[in-house]
This record gives sequence, C-alpha cells and structure tokens, in this order.
Amino acid sequence: MQYFQNKVTWITGASSGIGEALAYALSAAGAMLILSSRKQNELERVKNQCAHPEKIKIIQLDLENASSLQEKTKEAIAAFDHIDIMIHNGGISQRSFVIDTSMEVQRKVMEVDYFSYVSLTNYLLPHFIERKSGHFVIMSSVMGKIGTPKRSAYAAAKHALHGFFDCLRAEVADQNILVTIITPGYIRTNVSVNAVTGSGGSLGIMAHDIEQGLPADKAATQIMKAVASGKFEAYVGKNGKEKLALIINRFAPNLLIKSAVKQVPT
Ligand SMILES: NC(=O)c1ccc[n+]([C@@H]2O[C@H](COP(=O)([O-])OP(=O)(O)OC[C@H]3O[C@@H](n4cnc5c(N)ncnc54)[C@H](OP(=O)(O)O)[C@@H]3O)[C@@H](O)[C@H]2O)c1
Repeated sequence: MQYFQNKVTWITGASSGIGEALAYALSAAGAMLILSSRKQNELERVKNQCAHPEKIKIIQLDLENASSLQEKTKEAIAAFDHIDIMIHNGGISQRSFVIDTSMEVQRKVMEVDYFSYVSLTNYLLPHFIERKSGHFVIMSSVMGKIGTPKRSAYAAAKHALHGFFDCLRAEVADQNILVTIITPGYIRTNVSVNAVTGSGGSLGIMAHDIEQGLPADKAATQIMKAVASGKFEAYVGKNGKEKLALIINRFAPNLLIKSAVKQVPT
C-alpha cells in the first residue's frame, strides 16, 4: 500500500498478535518501523521475520511504567529522526465480573490500555505539530462501543480512548494530523490467554470466539486500508455476531442486554 512507503511507523504491542501482523505487513509495504513492547527477544524475532529488518529499530518499553514513556518517545523520534505514524496497539484484556475485580486490576488495565496511550500521545504531539504532519492510529475494540459481562476495566479503558481521541481529532484536524480509531471484533491472537483475571493473574485460556476470529494477518490488511484512507473509525473483523452487536447497540440496546445476560463470554 503506497501510503506506508518509507513512512516511519511506531507500533506498540509489536511482539505478538495484531501488532506482530502489522509489523510484517507494514515492512512488506516499505515502511520504516519502530517495534515496541516488553519482550525484547520476541521483538527481535518479529524484526528478523520482517521483509526489511534493516529498516527496523526496536525500543523495549513497559506501557505500565508511566515515568519511562517521555524518554522512550524521545528515543523513538531519534531512531529515524522523525515519526510519521504512531500505532497505539499494545494492551491487555480482562476477564472478571465487577464484583470479583480488585481495584489494582481496574487501575492496571486503565494504566496500560488508556493512560499509556494518552502519555505517548502527549509526548509525541509537539513533534507532529512542528512537522505539520502525523497520523495516530488507536487500537480500540468493539468493547470500546458496547459493554458485556466480565469486561468492565477493559471496556472502560477502550471507551475512554474514543472520548480522548475524538477530542484530539477535533483539536488538530486543521494541522494535517489524522486520528484513526480501529474497533476490532474477534481476532485470532493470544489476547484472552494474556488477559488479566480479577485478582491480577493471567487467564491462560484461548477463548473459543477468539480462536474462531479473523486471522491477524487479515486484520492487519483491513487496518492498513482504513488507515490509508484516513477513516475516523473502522470496524475490523469478520461479519460475525460482534459486528451485529454494534448495530443492535445503536438501534435497540435493550436487546443487546438480554443476549449479554444469556451468554456470558469467556
Ligand atoms: N484479539 C482481539 O480479538 C482483539 C479485539 C479487539 C481489540 N484488540 C486489541 O488489539 C491490541 C493487540 O492485542 P492482540 O489481540 O494482538 O493481543 P496479544 O497477542 O496479547 O498482544 C498484546 C501486545 O501488547 C503488548 N503488551 C501487553 N502489555 C504491555 C505492557 N505493559 N507494556 C508494553 N506492551 C505490552 C504485548 O507485548 P509484551 O508481552 O512483549 O509486552 C503484545 O505485543 C490490544 O490493544 C487489544 O485490546 C484485540
């Protein structure tokens, strides 16, 4: 896709799943990449499997470590002297009823899935404004638009992303800075395996819906098309029940509540 040719693109959560698939597809499309997440060895593995590893830098970071993110942003800008596209993708899901979810977990999910995106954006924004160019891409979720059982922290963080980034889009639209929010449905990754439980452990289960979801490489293609066409917001995934849920939620939310109560997801 021409849009990404030679564009310096910073991807968080690049060691696995959707971020990993984006790294492969963007490298093949000619982008220069900065790959970030906590696991240095996994980032090296992804880099070495990309079409152009010579056009890739790795910056290891922990999105939960708020005080490190300003320095990490400076490092990322210095890596290729500038950044064109920031893909906020790293994150964790959560699987627990409200009543079983500790405040530590509520805060952790908010820190990783929401505040880290706000921090990195605040540190990068002056660079985009100075260059009069930049594109923020935000990995939200269908859970950023609806609520179901066992997702309170995750859905809250994803909903918050829409509020923050819709406001940012309105503030910077006249400065050639774009904001694209992606709302994936079920994508086949380790997202449920890595999801946090109410007490802070890892769920460790591949959920059936995720296993049956859209393969990550297909999701990457859909995401890149939405980004290249400058969409404000785009659903990515199969034409499945999660897409239907978005429609039902808009026009008949009471029906969605009835089905959510009947089918508690893993
Ligand atoms: N798969 C789906 O069905 C689905 C649906 C809707 C939205 N999403 C969203 O898509 C994004 C990617 O998820 P995925 O499905 O690809 O799941 P995944 O395979 O579990 O990947 C999550 C990525 O986030 C990184 N990460 C997690 N915690 C981090 C932290 N504290 N600091 C830095 N990096 C961290 C992980 O890397 P390290 O472990 O190396 O840090 C990994 O690269 C997430 O924002 C998720 O909410 C996924």
